[in-house]
Amino acid sequence: MARISVTDLAQLKKEKIPWVMLTCYDATMARIFDEAEISALLVGDSAATVIYGYSDTVPITVEELLPLVAAVARGSKNALVVADLPFGSYQTSSEQALETATKFIKSGANAVKLEGGQRVSKQVETLVEAGIAVMGHIGLTPQSINAIGGYRVQGRGEERERILQDAKALEAAGAFAVVLEVMPEMLASEITQLLSIPTIGIGAGPNTDAQVLVWQDLLGLTPEPAPKFVKRYANLAEEISQAVKKFRFDVRNKNYPDQSHWYQ
Ligand code: KIV
Repeated sequence: MARISVTDLAQLKKEKIPWVMLTCYDATMARIFDEAEISALLVGDSAATVIYGYSDTVPITVEELLPLVAAVARGSKNALVVADLPFGSYQTSSEQALETATKFIKSGANAVKLEGGQRVSKQVETLVEAGIAVMGHIGLTPQSINAIGGYRVQGRGEERERILQDAKALEAAGAFAVVLEVMPEMLASEITQLLSIPTIGIGAGPNTDAQVLVWQDLLGLTPEPAPKFVKRYANLAEEISQAVKKFRFDVRNKNYPDQSHWYQ
């Protein structure tokens, strides 16, 4: 079976069938998510926090993200693999964006994602002209956290018009989809109706074409409190903690390994 393509995702929008993107950073989880029929795997720059332990997404580099992209591509067969372009790797010029995006595509990504609307539309045009599928990302753009001044809802009041223009600019530049992060659900709904390309919501309400979450948030590995938009579908932190404590107990009490686990 061929991988899900950007045209498949466009068709789902036409048919009004909601789909899911999940972040993914390694081959093991890529296999599990792929088998669970997740349509797109985003090797997000959120790896900065959940994999590398930075406090935000600003410091992560191309060199830190590339091996994760290659692992996710190797671990999956069906999902569209999307690589985030990290902060500082595409803002300078279209040439810089093309050079960076090419590295990710050569490492196995099927598409790249970058943050910003009108201010990166030249970069999006250049990548699309070069044959690269581009996902936009507007609303709360964590790479700009120092300029925004904190993780807060975007698009209220006067910001609303700017975000609408950003969405239109990305579609006009040739993006195949756009992430809408942490904005009023009415605004996300309006953008979804306005655009012919799929919208993928995170903290943007129920009326986007798709939903995305960081998988460690979804499955309960990140610390409390989670952002308001997160629904925990499991408590893996607790399950893992219980399991490793049992392992430690068994080793200390010589219950493990037993005969069934050793070789004669
Ligand atoms: O890096 C990331 O995980 C993201 C999603 C939150 C959309 O950009």
